[in-house]
Amino acid sequence: MTISVLGTGNMGKALVKQLTAYTEGQVLWGSRNPEEAAELAKSFGLDQITVVSYEDALQADMIIPAFPAAAIMDWALVHQGRLQHKIIVDISNPFNDDFSGFTTAWGESSAERLQSLLPDSKVIGAFKNTFFKVFENPVFEDKRSDVLVTGDDEEAVLRFIERFRPLPFRFIHAGKLANNRTIERFTLLELELAVRYGTYPYISLQLFGLKETVPAG
Ligand SMILES: NC(=O)c1ccc[n+]([C@@H]2O[C@H](COP(=O)([O-])OP(=O)(O)OC[C@H]3O[C@@H](n4cnc5c(N)ncnc54)[C@H](OP(=O)(O)O)[C@@H]3O)[C@@H](O)[C@H]2O)c1
Repeated sequence: MTISVLGTGNMGKALVKQLTAYTEGQVLWGSRNPEEAAELAKSFGLDQITVVSYEDALQADMIIPAFPAAAIMDWALVHQGRLQHKIIVDISNPFNDDFSGFTTAWGESSAERLQSLLPDSKVIGAFKNTFFKVFENPVFEDKRSDVLVTGDDEEAVLRFIERFRPLPFRFIHAGKLANNRTIERFTLLELELAVRYGTYPYISLQLFGLKETVPAG
């Protein structure tokens, strides 16, 4: 399955590094400025990655727009047609500009909003609680950082987990997209805790009491 990661910010960089280090299969890296992205890829030694425009990145089967939440919605509206039947991985947290709250109301999530804009695509929520710095070392005190994976299409959730399973995280099937109402809000609390305890931006989830391999459903 071809994956494309769009964006060369903190999360875009972290995701392409992990995907190329731990998985087989083609990875496309899209940017508004492919020349700069190619320089970045070279400096990271990511020889096996293919740098493309945002337009060309749409050809992948699984697409991760690593943009700010508002930009993802604009992008989805423009590309609704070409995104049909594809798996779209939503990593966004809809924080406001000063990180003091959300642009979504209680009872809403960015992931559900994206799914409603893309009714013929399969939206997956993932990596929302994983701060970018954690990708450098997802294992803390011998335990893998947890990634909550959500989606209303069961097969798409399982395909995502299968494709990402080689990464050094523990992927947990976390149910329907509506659970992102909680998951996204929890990320802001994580941020506050990381600042309070002096670890920001290194913070992620590790849940006790689950078996190492978590079955779907
Ligand atoms: N940072 C974290 O630790 C973290 C953790 C979990 C989830 N997230 C989520 O991941 C997403 C990306 O976060 P980030 O920290 O990687 O952001 P970032 O460092 O600001 O990078 C965002 C990238 O998105 C691309 N982009 C496309 N359209 C854009 C627009 N209209 N405005 C700004 N950038 C645009 C740009 O890449 P090009 O110039 O290459 O096109 C830019 O580098 C956000 O939705 C965030 O909520 C972040």
